[in-house]
Amino acid sequence: MKIELVGVIGAGVMGVGVAQNLAQTHHQVILVDVSDEILEHAKAEIYKNVRFGRMFEKSASRESPDEVLARITLTTDYSLLKDVDFVVENVIEKWAVKEKVYARLDDIRPEHCVLAANTSCISITRIGSATKRPDRVIGMHFMNPVPLKPTVEVIRGYHTSEETIEIAKTFLAGMGKDCIVVNDSPGFVSNRVLMLTVNEAIYLVHDQVASPQDIDQIFKKCFGHKIGPLETADLIGLDTILYSIEVLYESFNDSKYRPCPLLKKMVDAGLYGRKSGQGFYTYQ
Ligand code: NAI
Repeated sequence: MKIELVGVIGAGVMGVGVAQNLAQTHHQVILVDVSDEILEHAKAEIYKNVRFGRMFEKSASRESPDEVLARITLTTDYSLLKDVDFVVENVIEKWAVKEKVYARLDDIRPEHCVLAANTSCISITRIGSATKRPDRVIGMHFMNPVPLKPTVEVIRGYHTSEETIEIAKTFLAGMGKDCIVVNDSPGFVSNRVLMLTVNEAIYLVHDQVASPQDIDQIFKKCFGHKIGPLETADLIGLDTILYSIEVLYESFNDSKYRPCPLLKKMVDAGLYGRKSGQGFYTYQ
């Protein structure tokens, strides 16, 4: 199946990265979000990221931001998705929101279209159950920032067909990415481990054991990690971290996934990390 036209739902941190990566690999993209203001911001982010990428990579052959953006239609109109071959969904990590989005997509997409959920923790089997074609639903957990990360965790839901897995692999190869396929379980492999680590690191700040800087330094200098758990939290978005750990808590009914009160307080205060300019660190 040749994938030419791709729907990207949600133009936040991940949707922007997915849309940019797709456009840079010569796909036509329809990027959908709920307001023109968010879409304007997304457009500006893509412009800035492509421009910065060009400077950083010092590659004259890379396309300009305008050339990349020419392949992306930004819209609030879901009906434009009626001809897409593939959808990557990146709306917020709340089941109540995702469930409605999938029901809506199910009514619009063509029969052959695959729905890929870019979720941190929500079960792909559960997402499939919100559609009439669960065999065509797959998990596609992209890493952030999407254009710079070469490998994607792909999740096989209970009803995901082998054909869908093959289509997803071809799709990712077309984006210049490898994948590792795992079976469905909330948080999959990556976030079942990562969210616990990040939440526990936040507890260390909450319990005044060490400063965010010192906690991150221990992971970087002692373990050789590229970034520490609190820098990771700021990069992902503290709201997304909170929603993800809440999904794990509800899914496993296990108290080890209880969110740290400091995380809840920071999200209530609007400190979302990089995207709001303030989290454990301050950003310009
Ligand atoms: P975000 O909060 O930056 O963006 C979410 C976007 O979804 C917002 O722009 C919001 O307006 C939009 N949205 C909400 N309802 C919508 C609807 N009905 N239709 C269309 N758009 C809608 O969140 P982020 O970080 O981009 O996360 C998106 C998904 O990707 C989440 O499920 C998250 O768990 C997952 N994810 C996040 C990663 C990260 O590092 N931030 C990494 C991998 C997955």
